[in-house]
Amino acid sequence: MFAFAPDPNQPKAELYADLVGAAKALIHGESDGVANMANIAALIWQFLPRLNWSGFYRTVGADELVLGPFIGKPACIRIPFGQGVCGTAAASAATQLVPDVHAFPGHIACDADSRSELVVPVLREGRVIAVIDLDSPEPARFDAEDAAGIEALAAAIADAI
Ligand code: SME
Repeated sequence: MFAFAPDPNQPKAELYADLVGAAKALIHGESDGVANMANIAALIWQFLPRLNWSGFYRTVGADELVLGPFIGKPACIRIPFGQGVCGTAAASAATQLVPDVHAFPGHIACDADSRSELVVPVLREGRVIAVIDLDSPEPARFDAEDAAGIEALAAAIADAI
């Protein structure tokens, strides 16, 4: 059993340090990438309030993302690199912090409740192997500290998914 007790009221830097520490504990000694992504998606859901979707899209082939483990409503399965927020993050290898999804050209609406989104690429040996996608029903839910925290998480798990 894993009993993590996140305090959503603590400063974000501390919250993300605890999240990354918990993620490292979860993946320690486990080589199955699907199991690790599933646990990380659940961990994000447990640590971060006000989300409606938390999970992974994986790079399959040269330039396509395919849905991976997640928490939330069923979502679109395949996203070409360059399309939507996730495909933009994958094609550019750059974090996408979107305060208003309706203002993002080409945003792919998987859940009509989503109002803001944070997508962070996971890089291994310079290649985008996946993205971590967080959606919130709250406009401007994510800020630069959230982006930095999820980037630290992505770096910590890149070899385990
Ligand atoms: N909104 C994303 C699609 C994935 S869902 O949010 C789970 C996008 O525009 O790429």
